[in-house]
Amino acid sequence: MQTNRPVQPARAHGTAAVTAEISAGLLAAEAHTSPKFLYDSLGSRLFEAICELPEYYPTRTEAAIFDAHGAAMADDIGTGAALIDLGAGNCAKAARLFPLLQPAQYVPVDISCDFLTESVTRLQQRFKHIEMTPLGLDFSGGFALPDSVRTSRRLFFYPGSSIGNFSPEQAIAFLRGLRANAGADGGLLIGVDLVKDSAVLDAAYDDAIGVTAAFNLNMLRHLNHLVGADFDVRDWQHRAFFNAEAKRIEMHLEARSAVTVRWSDGSAPRARHFERGECIHTEDSYKYTRQSFVGLLEQAGFATNRVWTDDNGWFAVIHARVIPD
Ligand code: AVJ
Repeated sequence: MQTNRPVQPARAHGTAAVTAEISAGLLAAEAHTSPKFLYDSLGSRLFEAICELPEYYPTRTEAAIFDAHGAAMADDIGTGAALIDLGAGNCAKAARLFPLLQPAQYVPVDISCDFLTESVTRLQQRFKHIEMTPLGLDFSGGFALPDSVRTSRRLFFYPGSSIGNFSPEQAIAFLRGLRANAGADGGLLIGVDLVKDSAVLDAAYDDAIGVTAAFNLNMLRHLNHLVGADFDVRDWQHRAFFNAEAKRIEMHLEARSAVTVRWSDGSAPRARHFERGECIHTEDSYKYTRQSFVGLLEQAGFATNRVWTDDNGWFAVIHARVIPD
């Protein structure tokens, strides 16, 4: 079928569902896109770079908490668990806990299957006694674990404050899904970024050398690829700030001048005009207090066993257990 189109659909690589999702977001009264589109291969590398920035405290603060309290965590959790690592990536965070936690089974779950297989092959050499069962799936919309995952002593591991990308309501629904998969003796070890001075938060999401700006702007290149859009990255600028009322960092891309963006939704050409200063909302990163997150866990059917934080009280690692029915 040969039709003239204003965009280049041959370059569109998204599935129909992805295309429809992006299209709906860009056409909404307040344009928005899912933060999952931040992570093409360059985006994943830029996020790794963010984790090295002096301003971006979460990664190193959480790592320090695991270093200081890993033994206490293992005491509470016990050895021989089935450790289910959500968003495992290179599996490094979980692997650092293996010597203390000695899980019977390690189940890394990640949307990127190839990357996972590579990481697990290497890990299996180092930890021969741990049964390793990698799962390549997108768990963000809920999931059921296959029979290959042991049913006793399941421990969900969800570090990095990734839970912050969900709204509190979505987070409860997501955690309820984990609880449904956890069994009566199941648990959760989760990293949560805490509310703090807004200057610290603002700097962490708008760093001096512009890595986070590049990370945000790179989404436009990814969208060009996914839906054949014609975003010119130079038409946009990074905006990030702490919304104290909603207790979340918001990331936006703001039009530097009036611009019309064109893309394709299946076979339908689409367009959206943005006035100068108009924004696309690209990410929310919710922050909690200890108490508010413990309350949220309870609503999801988890009882908090213990909370570990750093000396500044900037980040928390929480161990919780399933509340029996
Ligand atoms: C991967 C969702 C935990 O919210 O801090 C970092 C993503 N965005 N800088 C976060 C992110 C901008 C990150 N999470």
